Amino acid sequence: MSVRYGLDGQVAVITGAANGFGLAVAQRLADEGARLVLVDRDADGLRAAAEKLGGLAVVADVSQESEVDGYVQEAVNAHGRIDLFFNNAGIEGRMAPMTELSVEDFDRVWRVNGRGVFMGLRAVLKVMKPQGSGVIVNTASMAAIKGAATFSPYIASKHAVLGLTKSAALEGAPYGIRINCVAPGHFDTRMGRDLTHQINPDDPDGVFRAVSESVPYGKRYGTAAEVANVVLWLFSDESEYVSGALHLIDGALNAG
Ligand SMILES: NC(=O)c1ccc[n+]([C@@H]2O[C@H](COP(=O)([O-])OP(=O)(O)OC[C@H]3O[C@@H](n4cnc5c(N)ncnc54)[C@H](O)[C@@H]3O)[C@@H](O)[C@H]2O)c1
Repeated sequence: MSVRYGLDGQVAVITGAANGFGLAVAQRLADEGARLVLVDRDADGLRAAAEKLGGLAVVADVSQESEVDGYVQEAVNAHGRIDLFFNNAGIEGRMAPMTELSVEDFDRVWRVNGRGVFMGLRAVLKVMKPQGSGVIVNTASMAAIKGAATFSPYIASKHAVLGLTKSAALEGAPYGIRINCVAPGHFDTRMGRDLTHQINPDDPDGVFRAVSESVPYGKRYGTAAEVANVVLWLFSDESEYVSGALHLIDGALNAG
């Protein structure tokens, strides 16, 4: 049984809600009795999530300015406010050395992970500032604090999420708004599995086993529920005074 934080009635907007971390956070917030606004570009997955969890489902692409402003407007039209925002949708893009990447490979990742996170912050802060309250969690990654020779667009985009988190936290602080980011390590979601295929299409299960072995705590991938545990705590009053920070969830992978 998970901890309950008394978030019932809170209006929560979650992007990337059809799968992975977004779906796990939506599940926990539904258990809390929060009023959900589920956002994803995957219409079928979103419909399934909304049927299971309840709440408003908004099909939107977070890389499109009008669609970001649109999902925020739909939340305000339905509930008049936004208390919690999980700014989470992201893509991994193509793994390859920089010399083998096109500018479009970079832009494709940047449009979602960089611009999408910025536009979400901008639109939601416009709602939260006049309220004088709100909590935001952005999904960064351990890729926000280290490089990788064959993953530069993703690495750059997640460094940007950290920068946006710090800047937004300073901007939101006078209005009583807290903003943090989570930085997951290796997680067993669709994205985590796709990366094993990209690293070695001939033996993704071998990559999965080797990555698992590299994680000091537990010798395993993390689960989406373990990210949701941290996000729920960040959303709750138990983390009052925590803002502008990156929260690694990586089984000590980056501790050395
Ligand atoms: N899985 C990992 O190991 C891992 C590690 C660190 C960080 N992350 C980050 O966590 C976040 C969630 O990843 P996940 O593992 O749950 O991935 P996932 O692929 O399982 O889920 C991502 C969801 O985001 C949605 N999405 C993607 N682009 C979108 C867009 N332009 N507009 C609207 N929705 C869009 C997808 O449809 C999907 O439902 C991402 O930001 C990712 O970069 C993942």
